[in-house]
Parts: sequence; C-alpha cells; structure tokens
Amino acid sequence: MNDSFSNLPRAAIVATGSYVPERVLTNADLEKMVETSDEWILTRTGIRERRIARPDEATSDMGTEAAKRALANAGVTAEELDMIIFATITPDMGFPNTACFVQANIGAKNAFCFDIEAACSGFVYGLDLCRQYIATGAARTILLLGAEKISCITDWKDRSLCVLFGDGAGAAVIRASDGKNGLLASVMRSDGRLHDLLKLPGGGSRNPATPETIAGGMHYMKMNGRDVFKHAVTCMTDVARKALDKAGLTVDDMKLIIPHQANLRIVNAIGERLGGGTDKYFVNLDRYGNTSAASIILALDEAVRVGRIQRGDRVLLIAFGGGFTWGATVLEW
Ligand code: UT7
Repeated sequence: MNDSFSNLPRAAIVATGSYVPERVLTNADLEKMVETSDEWILTRTGIRERRIARPDEATSDMGTEAAKRALANAGVTAEELDMIIFATITPDMGFPNTACFVQANIGAKNAFCFDIEAACSGFVYGLDLCRQYIATGAARTILLLGAEKISCITDWKDRSLCVLFGDGAGAAVIRASDGKNGLLASVMRSDGRLHDLLKLPGGGSRNPATPETIAGGMHYMKMNGRDVFKHAVTCMTDVARKALDKAGLTVDDMKLIIPHQANLRIVNAIGERLGGGTDKYFVNLDRYGNTSAASIILALDEAVRVGRIQRGDRVLLIAFGGGFTWGATVLEW
C-alpha cells in the first residue's frame, strides 16, 4: 500500500531540465528504411518525428546535459546534491550505474547514486522514491533523471517497433517543499505475470550475449503492441483515478494531465475515460515518439517552459511500461 505521508515533509520539484539529440528522424525518413508510410504512423500513433542520439552519445551523456539544465534552472550546485537516481532501460553499461557517470560528469561529489529500472514508468517510480527519501529526511537535495537511448535496442528492420521510439533525457531537482506545493499523492503498481508482452530478452543473465543471441536479434526490444495497448489504457485510467482519490481531488482540479507519451490513441482513450477535455492532456509524442523513462519528464519540462504549468497548478502524471509497471502521481507545482 502507498500511504499519503501526510504529516511528513513533502517532496517538491524545484526545477526541471531536458535534452534531446540534434538528429531528427521523420516518418518520411522511415519510409525509406522499412515498408511503412507517414499516413500509417501518424494515424496509428500520432508520431511525426523522433530524435536519434549520435553513435558516440550514450544515455549518461544526454542525462548529463539535462542535469546541468535542471541544476541551472533550480539554482542548485552539483555539490549540494546528496542523491542521484537515474531511471533507464538503456544504461551506458551493465555496470557501473548510469547515475555514477552523471555524478562524475557534473562533479556531484557528495551524492550517492543508483539506477532504477521500471521501463517507461521509471521516472514516476523514481518520484515515489524521492517522496520517501525526502519524507524521512534521508536525503535533502535529489537529482532524478529519466533518459534513454532506445535507438540502440531498436531493430531498424522491424517496422512494427522502429517507428515508435526515440531518444532523449530529462532531469528534476527535488527538495522538501517549503509551502503546500509538492507531491500530493502517488500510487504505484506492477504485474510481473505480463512480463512477456514487452521485453529486451538478450544480454542479461537469462540469455547472456552470444553470437547466437545476437544472430536471433535478442538484443532488440520485443513487444506485443495490441496487448500492451489494451493494458496501457485500462491500467493508466485505473491508477490515475486511484491517485486522484488518494489526493482527495478530481480531474477538474488538474491544470494539466501528462500521460506516458507512447501513442496518441492511448492518450485519447484515457481522456475519454477520465474526462476533462483534450486540452488538459499534454502531448509532445508527435515530435519525440516514445522515449520510455524520459517520456514524462521531457513532457513535464516542456509544459513548464511553455507556460502550461504555473506555480500552484495541480498536475497528474500517469505512467505505464514493461514489467508491467504503472503508476500515477498528483502534484502541486
Ligand atoms: O511504452 C510502453 C508502452 N507501449 C505502448 O504503449 C505501445 C502500445 N501499442 C501501440 O501503440 C499499438 O499497438 C501499435 C502502434 C504498436 C500498433 O498499432 P495497432 O493499431 O495495434 O496495429 P497492429 O499491431 O494491430 O497492426 C495492424 C497492421 C498489421 O498488418 P495486418 O496484420 O493487419 O496486415 C501490421 O503488420 O499494421 C501493420 N503494421 C504496419 N504497417 C505499416 C505494423 N507496423 C506497421 C508500420 N507501417 N510501421
């Protein structure tokens, strides 16, 4: 059970930052690579283009840029950080963890660092961790990142997957709230029985990398799109309702709803169930595709930059990803 921590210090996002690689891959570009069309991709997903990292650009490099921007926006120095959490399914290496690379790059010598892996739910799971470290006083200033180089686990010959994803990074600086803003309620869920529907089968201890696993394409992501779609809509709607209930708020109290940016049809289906009108649902997947753990923080950072969120506004974040993992967080900005 997640409790509301109502009497303990409340975690608040002080500022955010993000980074996307320069290279834009459009639907027209993909038409030249696989048997697909701009029309199919747009009508089935809402995606027009996505960003692709340079070959020499690793997940931690993108995370480092996002981190520098978030720290600058927060007016916080790297030395003030006592914790760095990095949510990703595309770490630079099996180990050391990606957060340690960011620590070294920004000089956050007082932080302890680790990664979390909850697929596309990673950032929202990370927020829930921050909430608890702040509540107990175990950490005072946290850097939470969500970043992915999904292009390196994408089979560029598989049209059912390669059109969906993109690379990018986002970061948030989190501290105890000095007012009533911050994370109001969160609900996290998982169902490991459904692990087979979305996975990266090769390269781990189950199927260590061998010439055979590579020849079989096991180092590429696999997904049963139709089943994932159905579960995503049901689970995200349900967990959003639970988080709102826990906060004692309704959709009408939300200034903005930021769902995981996987597919516009999923966002619209959630919108039909939760209500509130389409304007309330923030969408930038048309420009970035599905960036997995970076998706929600990329959207949140953009929403703040373009003025869609102001101090005092209430925001609902809803995540869903492999595992399955899913979760929702209600916050006051
Ligand atoms: O981030 C984690 C969560 N992930 C998601 O939320 C993704 C969830 N799933 C989806 O977004 C959708 O299921 C997809 C976008 C992946 C697919 O959309 P769909 O409406 O479920 O299409 P489908 O998989 O049922 O495929 C329909 C047809 C198939 O052809 P047939 O069997 O009907 O002849 C596919 O082979 O579309 C074909 N197809 C394509 N055609 C052109 C699949 N990919 C493509 C493509 N271009 N890129």
